[in-house]
Amino acid sequence: MSATLLDRRPEPVARAAPPPPLGLLAELTHRCPLRCTYCSNPLQLDGRSSELDTETWKRVFTEAAELGVIHIHLSGGEPTARRDIVELTRHAADVGLYTNLITSGIGVSDEKLDALLEAGCDHIQLSLQGANAEVTELVGGYRGGFEKKEAFARAVVARGFPLTLNAVIHRMNIHQVPAMIEKAVEFGARRLEIAHTQYYGWALKNRAQLMPVREDVDRTIVEVEEARERLKGQLVIDAVFPDYYARYPKLCNGGWGARTLSVTPAGKALPCHAAETIKHLEFWSVRDHSLADIWAESPAFEAYRGTGWMKEPCTSCERRHVDFGGCRCQALALTGDAANTDPACIKSPLHQELGDTATIEASSVADPLAVVYRGFRAS
Ligand code: SF4
Ligand code: FES
Repeated sequence: MSATLLDRRPEPVARAAPPPPLGLLAELTHRCPLRCTYCSNPLQLDGRSSELDTETWKRVFTEAAELGVIHIHLSGGEPTARRDIVELTRHAADVGLYTNLITSGIGVSDEKLDALLEAGCDHIQLSLQGANAEVTELVGGYRGGFEKKEAFARAVVARGFPLTLNAVIHRMNIHQVPAMIEKAVEFGARRLEIAHTQYYGWALKNRAQLMPVREDVDRTIVEVEEARERLKGQLVIDAVFPDYYARYPKLCNGGWGARTLSVTPAGKALPCHAAETIKHLEFWSVRDHSLADIWAESPAFEAYRGTGWMKEPCTSCERRHVDFGGCRCQALALTGDAANTDPACIKSPLHQELGDTATIEASSVADPLAVVYRGFRAS
């Protein structure tokens, strides 16, 4: 290249380092006793033999704390299926992370619960599939699940510990929203999350059986509002309503590469839980890279960070810094291109089609036999 052309080359622009993440979702294992129809884990699960070992997870937790992460969510699958769960919890607490255990409550003995609390677990989030045994078993595919969850919830509260219940809502349990609110009060939970199913991973497979009709969704909005007012000071209720009936998309995960990251059981670092569905992305592993390098440099985190990757109508939209174009994984699943506007947005050319699909699927006759239960080996 001639000196003249070199002279014309623009000065390299120093790229500002992204602000540090606030949260880390540590998916310790995909193993799980439940077989939930709405599971958001990927179709291809990581097997036990590919899971990170104890020392690697501990290093990742230390690096997370050094990077500025405040909250760590110990999740899965069922995180307590790991034999080292108490040791990992202790390490997370020791390095100063606020430690939230996300559990089905199944298989967690009183002794293990005591050990987890003693190790420094700060908060427990328990999944709720229904308000009684019948619905819980229908949704989770596990006999006796409701009784075990109830016993676990009561054991947590009896120890004076903060408990959040997380209820994923869909057509099979939407009629139980008021009953689930009452159960949360009865169990002594401080917080209840009413979160309508996000159709990624396994849930997308079951979408036609899980999609609720709009009238039922609208009714739950009223039910939640009424309960929030009535239970002020006693129970906090968070609610996430379905994208498919929305006018604008959600700010997914606080924005791509903006606030949180996930690490899979086998060690891949992802900008969001479902990011592996975007096949062209290159995910770095915590086995080979530090969390700080992954956050700042890895191609997958860079791919959709900020707004530079956007297309119209997002590029010129006044909401582009509010929702960052919605969910990349949903855009890919529904439009074939992760850089497209999330069809949950009214400005997407596919928005009307999305609403129509939801209406058609929700109006189809529910057939419990057509639901595919999650299986650990299923892919
Ligand atoms: Fe958000 Fe894009 Fe829709 Fe604007 S056009 S509201 S930025 S998804
Ligand atoms: Fe991946 Fe929304 S789930 S960006």
